[in-house]
This record gives sequence, C-alpha cells and structure tokens, in this order.
Amino acid sequence: MLRLKKDFFSIADRKGWINMNVIVSKTYEEMCQKAARLIAAQLTLKPDSVLGLATGSTPIGIYQELICKYQEDRLDFSKVTTVNLDEYVGISEDNEQSYRYFMNHNLFDHVNIPKKYTYVPNGSTDRIEEECEDYEQLIEQLGGVDLQLLGIGGNGHIGFNEPCGEFPEYTHLVDLKQETIEANSRFFSSMDEVPKQAVTMGIGTIMQAKKVVLVANGVGKAKAIYDTLFGPVTPNVPASILRFHPDVTVFVDEEAFSMVAQKH
Ligand code: F6R
Repeated sequence: MLRLKKDFFSIADRKGWINMNVIVSKTYEEMCQKAARLIAAQLTLKPDSVLGLATGSTPIGIYQELICKYQEDRLDFSKVTTVNLDEYVGISEDNEQSYRYFMNHNLFDHVNIPKKYTYVPNGSTDRIEEECEDYEQLIEQLGGVDLQLLGIGGNGHIGFNEPCGEFPEYTHLVDLKQETIEANSRFFSSMDEVPKQAVTMGIGTIMQAKKVVLVANGVGKAKAIYDTLFGPVTPNVPASILRFHPDVTVFVDEEAFSMVAQKH
C-alpha cells in the first residue's frame, strides 16, 4: 500500500509488518541535503553516535553537506565513531582507489573526527578471515551501529552483498559480480585494475543497525529501488531485506523513483 503525501511516502503492509519512509527529491542535491539533515539530527541527539558509512558516488554529496554543517559550526564530530561497510581486497590504505582513501578524502580529512575512531575493514591483510571476525567484534564492542548509511547497486546489492542464494550474515569475503566490477571500473584506468574481491559487512550486520538510511539517485537505480520496495524479499535483491528492518528511511531522486512512480 502506498500512501501519498507529496514527496513523502510511507510504505506499509496491512499487517503492519513493513514500515518504510521514502522521501523523493527532485534533484540529487536536494536528496543529499535531506539525507544529511537526518544524519545531522542523529549526531545532535547523540553526539557519540556510531555511524555506519558507505563509499561510492551516491554519498559524496551527503558528505559535502555534512562538511558544510561542520564548517558552519552546526555539527561536531569529535565524539563520533564510524565503521565503513566494505573495502576492496588487495588494495592498501594509501592507494587512491581504496575505500579508506575515499573516506579520508571525502569526509574525515575535513571534519573534527579523530582518525583513530574511524574504522574501515582492512582488505590488504593476508588474514582476511580473522579480519572479518575482528570487524564483527569491533562493531559489537562499540555497542552496534546507531545509523547505517547505504547506497545500492544497480543489481540491488548493499555493502558488497551481491545477489546470491542466501543472505550472508556476518562480515565476510565476497567475489564481486561482473556487473559490479564493470560499474566500479569508472574509478579505475582499466578494467584489469578493478579488484575482484572485497570484504563487506554481512546482511545480518547491516540489519542490526538501529536506524538505516538508504540513498539512490539516477535512472540506473530505478529497478533496484522498485524491487527493494515492492518485489519479493529475496537474496537475489539483497536490499529487499530492509523491508523487515523497523527503522528505514529511503532518500531517492525522481529518476531513481521513476519505476515506482510508473507502476503505482
Ligand atoms: C560502497 C557500497 C556499495 C555502493 C553501491 C552504489 O561502500 O557499499 O554498495 O553503495 O555500489 O555505488 P554508487 O553510489 O557508486 O552508485
């Protein structure tokens, strides 16, 4: 059932099991402003929040908004801890293509967060299994993630949990799908350079976050957003599991929402 209130939709099923808020913006910029406001509210209400963060093109504008709020003295990151969703395997932290580098460059270097409180999985260790276990333990020791920011792949992946036969529970090593390698190749000078594996939080890890914010823009995400909101809950569309999370807000631009708008 879709309840329409201008650009705000609440998707609920009759039994009250599913309850997702969807906020549709005209543009990417507006979407980023709105998502950043929700994150700013989280940090204002709980200055020592644990934020789960994502990389990729989608959150860049949100990070820019957060940096602006910090520069205007409206946001303080000094007590915040961050845990990132994922990291490529075989790429060291100082490599410009690493997600650690991305996070430093797009957010951490520009706000007053102590770097020692920013965590990104280590993809350059030869002890990947231990790294995955340690990452889970770390999140538990931190008391869990208060707010998890998620982008979504065109194939419905969240983190690097690719479509597959089951929802992976914990942080694990993953073989990236060809379509993900191709999508990510835009950041590399050749296809051969794109890592084929990554370490990612599991679906179970993500589902344990207290609050989830999913962001998507562009027509390339329209089907993934439609399937996430209205398709069957299936590991073939990993983001669809979010329908069972009690506190999800989805921020989309009109293009990413276009398939929903057409069909409903
Ligand atoms: C990145 C991540 C991925 C991306 C997704 C969308 O940390 O977890 O799931 O969010 O691939 O990427 P963009 O935003 O580049 O379209």
